[in-house]
Formats: sequence, structure tokens, C-alpha cells
Amino acid sequence: MKRSVLRVVGRRDTPRPPDSAAILAAMPIPVVVLDAEDRFRFANDAAEQFLGISSASLANLRLIDLVPDDNPIFLLIRQIRAAEVTISEHDLSIESPRLKKHGITVQGSPLAGEPGSVLLILQDVSAARQLDRQMSFRSAARSVAGMAAVLAHEVKNPLSGIRGAAQLLETSVNDQDRELTDLIRDEADRITALVDRMEAFGEKPVDRGAVNIHRVLEHVRRLAKSGFAADLRITENYDPSLPHVNGNRDQLVQVLLNLVKNAAESLTFGNTPFGEITLTTSFQHGVRLSVPGSDQRLHLPLAVTVRDNGPGIPEDIRDNLFDAFVSSKPSGSGLGLALVAKIVADHGGLIEVDSRPGRTEFRLFLPMLSETP
Ligand SMILES: Nc1ncnc2c1ncn2[C@@H]1O[C@H](COP(=O)(O)OP(=O)(O)O)[C@@H](O)[C@H]1O
Ligand SMILES: [Mg+2]
Repeated sequence: MKRSVLRVVGRRDTPRPPDSAAILAAMPIPVVVLDAEDRFRFANDAAEQFLGISSASLANLRLIDLVPDDNPIFLLIRQIRAAEVTISEHDLSIESPRLKKHGITVQGSPLAGEPGSVLLILQDVSAARQLDRQMSFRSAARSVAGMAAVLAHEVKNPLSGIRGAAQLLETSVNDQDRELTDLIRDEADRITALVDRMEAFGEKPVDRGAVNIHRVLEHVRRLAKSGFAADLRITENYDPSLPHVNGNRDQLVQVLLNLVKNAAESLTFGNTPFGEITLTTSFQHGVRLSVPGSDQRLHLPLAVTVRDNGPGIPEDIRDNLFDAFVSSKPSGSGLGLALVAKIVADHGGLIEVDSRPGRTEFRLFLPMLSETP
């Protein structure tokens, strides 16, 4: 009698493990199994999403149908079969008419008891890399802050002397020479304005609180429509139930103004017919981002995007887009996006960009009021 009671209790304490197929299906990491002829024998839900193909369709496909045969993934698979060990390869690109993925980490293992079959785990590390880059943008912004402090001292003081001298001269020269004194004054003002903009990188503490991002966007839209974007169409696509952002209103105005201004300039310089800027807000449920090299998890559910249908970001500056002084414009300062990156990082947020001709989108992820990181 005693023993049977014990047995019942024991069974309750160690419940039967869930079905392994259910575990695989629920895994948020793409997993596929290929047979000895590289046919897809299995793909979990995450893999279907990753590849953009249902498992029913995958069942009729071979890897070669998705990826050209010179892709290093085939070498990886051959090595796994030959050595019968787990091998991983980083930074693979999978590019074909059906699929375009970069910065993929693939881990593969032979499947025990199934000769020639390999299990592949595919991971898109580009989101983590984005975050990594974000961290380095931040340090780039710091070095700008240091430089701005030096410039403010070493440049602004002598400049005000030069400006004052030009103003004095103005009173005693003829009209023709006055053009020159005007030039000196205007150029001195331009340099002062540039240094002032750089000083915005300083580490002054700012107040944070509840900010209604729709009010910020409305303000930015009004500024744009009454100035640099007067002839452009600005479309809004807002989620009215969006909670407040935890942030600084003036800084967020600055961020969005810089993004909208860049969008407007790309449309104007690119002579885009039917130029349009679209502002969107949305709530991202349940997305958490891990920070590389730490156990921090960011919960940034508020997404704000600024999209334009302009020519796209020039290829040669994409990798350094958020660095200071990177600009493709004849008189651009290249400080706009560096300041955006700095403010977003100070807010504990994240910014991503996606650009191709006809569609450039800057996506901003911000913390909600109750979720100060
Ligand atoms: N929406 C956009 N479309 C195309 N290119 C863009 C866009 N936003 C930014 N860029 C590119 O990024 C560069 C850097 O932008 P930014 O830091 O604001 O400096 P600036 O506007 O002074 O050039 C721009 O010169 C431009 O080449
Ligand atoms: Mg700019």
C-alpha cells in the first residue's frame, strides 16, 4: 500500500517530458533537417518564417532550389557528413531569387541513426549586430562631444574676435569692400552655428518623462510643412492607442526632425516625382532584444518609422551612416544622424535602417514610460 502511494507521488514529481516535436515547433530558432540528397525533411515554424516558405512546399524542395551551389553552406554540409561532428559557420550570406539573408550563423550536426541527414540551425545575427553597431555609434558620438568642447573653446572665441573686427571695418570701407566684410561675418556665423550644433553632443543631463510621440510627430510635421517639406506629401499612419514614451520631448523632436529633414532632402535632391514621407507608429508586442556581451534585455515596444520613396542611401556611406561628418550632400554637416544615434542611445532605444531605391525607412524603437531600462 505504502509503495503504491509513493509511486503515484513520484510520477507527479517527474512529469512526462513534452513531445520533442512540440518542443522543436515552439523553438524561436529556425531548425531544418536535410536528408542525404539535401531534400528538406523537416522545418520548424521559425524556419518556415525565416525562409518564407511553408513546410508543405519545402517538402518538395532541395537546398539547391533555394541557394546557388557555390554557396559555402554546401561545403559546411559536406564537412558535417564527412567528419560526423557539429560545425558552425558565421557570417554566411544566403542570396538567391527567393531568399536574401546576410550575416547568418549556421550550426549543423549529423542526425544520429539517419545516415547522411544533417540538422541545421540558422540564426540571423544581424539584429544583434545592429545593436552592436549602435553601441559603437554611441562611442563615436562621445568623441564628437569631446571634440566639440575643444572646438567651442578654441574656435568660437577667436571667431567672435574676427566677427567683431569685420563689423568695425564695415563702418569705414566703401560699398565694394563691404561685400568682403559681409562675407567674413556670414562665414564666421556659419562656423559658429556648426560648432553650436556639435555642442549638442555634450553630456548635459536632460529631464525625462511621459512624452506623447504623436504630439512630437505632429509638431515635426508642422515644422516640415511650413519649411523644407512645403511641397512634399507627408502621410501619417498612427496607432492611436500607443502608450507614452519615456523620454525628453525636445530631444525627440530633434531626432524626428533630423530624420524627416533627411527624407525631404533625399526627395528634393533626387527629384523624386510624387515624393512622399510616411510617418508610422505601432506597438510591438513581446519583442525583446538582447544586448551583445551582457545579460540585459531591452523591451522597446514603441516603434516609430520615417519612410520616404526617394533614391535611397548611397551604397558607399551605408556602413558609416551614423558616424559624425559622414554626408553625401555638398554642404551637409553629417551631424544629423550622429546626433540621432546619440539621443536614441541615451534614451535606451534603438534605431535601424533599411534602404533601397524607392524606399528608405528609419525605424526607431523606444521604451515605454513604465519600462525605464
Ligand atoms: N532618407 C534618406 N535617403 C537617402 N539618404 C539619406 C537619408 N537619410 C540620410 N541619408 C544619407 O545619410 C547622410 C548623412 O545624413 P546626416 O547625418 O543627417 O547628415 P547630412 O544631412 O548633413 O548630410 C546624408 O548625407 C545622406 O547621404
Ligand atoms: Mg541631415
